[in-house]
Amino acid sequence: MNKKSVKDVVVKGQRCLVRVDFNVPMKDGVITDETRINGALPTIKYLVDNGAKVILCSHMGKPHNILTEGFGLTKKEKKAVEALPESEQAAAKAEYLKKALKDKEKFTLRPVAEKLSEKLGIPVKFATDVVGASADEAVASIKDGEVVLLENTRFMAGEEKRDEALCKKLASYCDIYVNDAFGTAHRSHATTAAIAEYGFVKTAVCGFLIEKELSVMADSLENPVRPFVAVLGGAKVADKLKVISNLLEKCDTLIIGGGMAYTFLKAKGYEVGTSLVDDEKIEYCKEMMQKAQDLGKNLYLPVDATIVDSFPNPIDAEIPYSVCGIDAIPADKMALDIGPATQALYTDAVKSAKTVIWNGPMGVFENPIFAKGTMAVAKALAETEATTIIGGGDSAAAVTQLGYADKMTHISTGGGASLELFEGKKLPGIECLNDKD
Ligand code: 3PG
Repeated sequence: MNKKSVKDVVVKGQRCLVRVDFNVPMKDGVITDETRINGALPTIKYLVDNGAKVILCSHMGKPHNILTEGFGLTKKEKKAVEALPESEQAAAKAEYLKKALKDKEKFTLRPVAEKLSEKLGIPVKFATDVVGASADEAVASIKDGEVVLLENTRFMAGEEKRDEALCKKLASYCDIYVNDAFGTAHRSHATTAAIAEYGFVKTAVCGFLIEKELSVMADSLENPVRPFVAVLGGAKVADKLKVISNLLEKCDTLIIGGGMAYTFLKAKGYEVGTSLVDDEKIEYCKEMMQKAQDLGKNLYLPVDATIVDSFPNPIDAEIPYSVCGIDAIPADKMALDIGPATQALYTDAVKSAKTVIWNGPMGVFENPIFAKGTMAVAKALAETEATTIIGGGDSAAAVTQLGYADKMTHISTGGGASLELFEGKKLPGIECLNDKD
C-alpha cells in the first residue's frame, strides 16, 4: 500500500487521534461480537507500547437523535415541534427528548471502553462526549501510554455532515490522525476522512488493520492466483450492481445465490413464483449475463431451490418446505434457499478455485431450514486450500457462527467497505491519508 502507517511516524509523546470501528453488535448493553475490538488491538497496543497518547473515537449504530449543542432535538424535530399549536409543544418536545435519551443509552460506547480496558489490561478513560467538557478534560490530562475513548461520534450532527468546526476541534486534540476503521473507510464523514482532507491534521496515517485488510483484499482482486471464484449472495441485485460488473472482469467464475439470484433467473425467462425479484434490474441482469459470455467467464445460477408458500413469520419459524428444480417453481411458491444440487455445483466450483471471495448469504440463513445453502458454501470454503476471503457482514457472521472462522485466510471487519473495494472504488478513509515518500 502506498499510504503511510503508524510505523512510518514517530509516535512517542504524540497525541494520536485514532479512528477505529467500534460499531459492534450489542444486546442489552452487552457486546455480542468482539471481532472489531480485537481487530483494532494491534494498532492500539503498538501506540501504547511506543509511548503515544491514544485518543480513540468511533461511531456506534445509527442514532437518530443527535446531540447537537449539548443534548437536544435535531433540527427536523425542532421544526416539527414548532409546527404544532403552542399548547402541544412542550409535550411533543418531551417525547422527542425521551426518544433521544433512549438512543443515547442504546448507542453509547461506554461498554466498549470497559471491554477494551479488560483486553488491554490498562484503564481506558471514557469521555462522555465527543468534543465537550468531558473530552476536553480527558485529552488535557492524558499521559504517554494512556488511552481515552470518546463518546459515539454520531451523537454529533457534524460527523456525517463533515462539519468543519467539529473537525477543527477534534484536530486540536491531536498531533497525528490515525485511521484504523476499515469498516467505516467507505464513509466520508468528519472523523473518517474530512479531518485529514481539510488539512487540519497534517500527519494522517493508517493503522495495522487497514493495512492488513487492504493488502489481502486489494492484492487478491488485482493479482489473484487463478482460478478465481467470487461468490455473491444477499437479497437485492440493486445493492451489488457495480460489484457484479467489476467482479465479472476480475474473476474466472461468478456464483450468484441468495434472493438476488431470482432476478437473474427471471431475466433468463424462468418462472420464479413469488420469489424476491427486482423487476427494474431485469435488463441489468441480462446485460451481466451477456458480459459474462463476452468475457468468457462462468456465471453460475441456482439449478434448484428450497421453496415455501410464504415467508416465515417470525423469520426463524419452522414452516413446511420442499425442493424443486429451477425450471419447476410453481407460480404461487417462493424460493428461500439454494437446493442440494446447487449446493453441490457451488461446492465443486469452490473446490476447483485457488482464490475465493465471498459476500452475502445463499438464502434466508436466519432460519435453520433455509441456512443449508449458506452452510454448504461456508463448509466448502473452510475445506479448501485456496486463499479464502470473506467480505464481512452476514457471510462473516455465518462463518463465525459455524465455527469456521479460523479456517479462512481473511475475514474482513467491513461489510460495506469491502463491497466498495470489490466494486473497484477508492475508499475516502484511505485516500485522505499521507502517501509514502
Ligand atoms: C458497518 O457496520 O458496516 C460500519 O461500521 C459502517 O457503519 P454504517 O453502515 O452505519 O456507516
